[in-house]
Amino acid sequence: MCGIVGTVGEKALRTFMIEGLRSLEYRGYDSAGVVFLNKGLIENYRLPGRVADLDALVPQNKTGALGIGHTRWATHGEPNFSNAHPHTSEDGLFSVVHNGVIDNFRYLKKKLTLKGYSFKSDTDTEVIVNLISYYYGKTQDVLQSIKRVMEALEGSYALAIVFKDDEKKVYFAKLHSPLVIGRGEKTHYVASDYLPMLKFAKDYYILNDYQYGYISEEVVAVYHLKDTEPTAIEFRKTDVTSEDINLNGYPHYMLKEIEESPTVVRHILDNYTQGSEFLFDPELLNHIQESDQIIFLACGTSYHAALIGRRYFESIGKTSRVYIASEFAYYPEIKGNNPIFIIISQSGETADLIRCMKVIKNEGHPILTITNTKGSSLSRASDYTLLLYAGMEIAVASTKAYIAQVTLLALLKAALINHAEISLQLDQVIVAMQHVISEKLMIQDLANEVCIAKSAVFLGRGPDYDVALEASLKLKEITYIHSEAFPGGELKHGPIALIHPDVPVFSFISDPLTAPASRSNLQEVQARGAKVYTITNRSNQQDNDWFVTMDTQVSLAPLVKAVVAQYLSYYCALALDRDIDKPRNLAKSVTVE
Ligand code: M6R
Repeated sequence: MCGIVGTVGEKALRTFMIEGLRSLEYRGYDSAGVVFLNKGLIENYRLPGRVADLDALVPQNKTGALGIGHTRWATHGEPNFSNAHPHTSEDGLFSVVHNGVIDNFRYLKKKLTLKGYSFKSDTDTEVIVNLISYYYGKTQDVLQSIKRVMEALEGSYALAIVFKDDEKKVYFAKLHSPLVIGRGEKTHYVASDYLPMLKFAKDYYILNDYQYGYISEEVVAVYHLKDTEPTAIEFRKTDVTSEDINLNGYPHYMLKEIEESPTVVRHILDNYTQGSEFLFDPELLNHIQESDQIIFLACGTSYHAALIGRRYFESIGKTSRVYIASEFAYYPEIKGNNPIFIIISQSGETADLIRCMKVIKNEGHPILTITNTKGSSLSRASDYTLLLYAGMEIAVASTKAYIAQVTLLALLKAALINHAEISLQLDQVIVAMQHVISEKLMIQDLANEVCIAKSAVFLGRGPDYDVALEASLKLKEITYIHSEAFPGGELKHGPIALIHPDVPVFSFISDPLTAPASRSNLQEVQARGAKVYTITNRSNQQDNDWFVTMDTQVSLAPLVKAVVAQYLSYYCALALDRDIDKPRNLAKSVTVE
């Protein structure tokens, strides 16, 4: 979603601001803006549109003492000029960029309106900036004003703040929305993630909730809302590398990330096994063993991985349930006496999951977070974290993170029953994935044919249904083709009414147990004129099956089938000339509910 950059002391100020915002494009956005503080003047450039448009708007020779910038994903008010960040206070003293959502902004806006403030935008951010200026009028102290504002705000925020009369500092504040400080040579940076700073900073500090302060050329001052003394902080290196953000010759991050799947599986094996030994924290394994049920919480693609995880844990006798986080957050069902929660999140910052965490923590249950993002909010608030080691995922459509999530769940299950053969079985998966990659042009051929469809149907039974759900989500996310997934057996209970010669049907068949029933379903749709494309494996193969993967252990087949589905979506989107890595309306890290 929204992205923040800011710096003091950077000589290449314009380059850092524009390139920094470009590196945040992957998060999804619809407006962009920057403020430069230059000889006591707040110079604001903003617009609805892309960073490229902003680049054209900002004079090439623009300099300044410091700057803050933003990519906005609209929440309060449509994407237009007035709603784009940075927002400047009515008195022109402060400028602010903001990620997050202020729940009580209407109340605060009313209070400020009664005090004579007027507003030009629909945003909650304009309330924040005017509130800072209001408290500054009372305290004549910027840090005190920020503190007072933090005490007044309810919701989530990462803020970068510029004060017109101080060319030496960019201020910041953070609650439930990520913000990182970067340290360079006589320069400091602030940003919503590492990417804008990778080429500039040498080490980093991830801010905690309720922290605020400022960066200057020489100093970073961090305070906690509850403390009077500054907080001692420690800068660390990051695992994120510029390799993660290089396209390495690929036209899109999505394609690059799909093709990293075999490496991702290998990394998980390397990090969590040694020979026939598993390297999971024994305390975590005991905790899972002793719990009377496992409750998975996740959203989107991660939810689809959790569906497979539930099957893995059920298959070894652990009662398991899966909930969509945004549902569980408001309608929690905690039935067991001794459950353990497994939260799955690529970004580790998903607001719906953060809301769930509060519910779980109130009940005092343990939480394991499976995430790709070290130091993320969810990881830091959990009792246990398992990292996915997938490397940064930049395309909005999640591909390799899903592969990593399912692989890790398979390995965790194996560790619980000491099933050392899993390593060999995952080796087979790697080979089968490489085979899919080698056959990708065949998938592209079909994609060029089916991409004109207005609607598509994905079918599967058992784990194949879980893959069908993910395949359907992927297709709609990046091609905007309407699609639905059904368990094969449900078809005749209603959805078969959708079947039509113009609606392609994709069927996943991996399990010999359900293969005959799935084949019957296909007869039914073919009899109604549908074109059927079966994705199966060698031991289930029949004449005219469209894509045949190599055999793997049945429970691991979703890992291979998913790669076929990811390619299918990718190539359909390519044929339709979609903005593949940044599909419309979507954000990489969904930090609002
Ligand atoms: O970062 P998370 O795994 O918590 O994100 C969950 C979903 O927002 C995410 O998987 C989303 O569905 C992706 N766009 C899928 O491609």
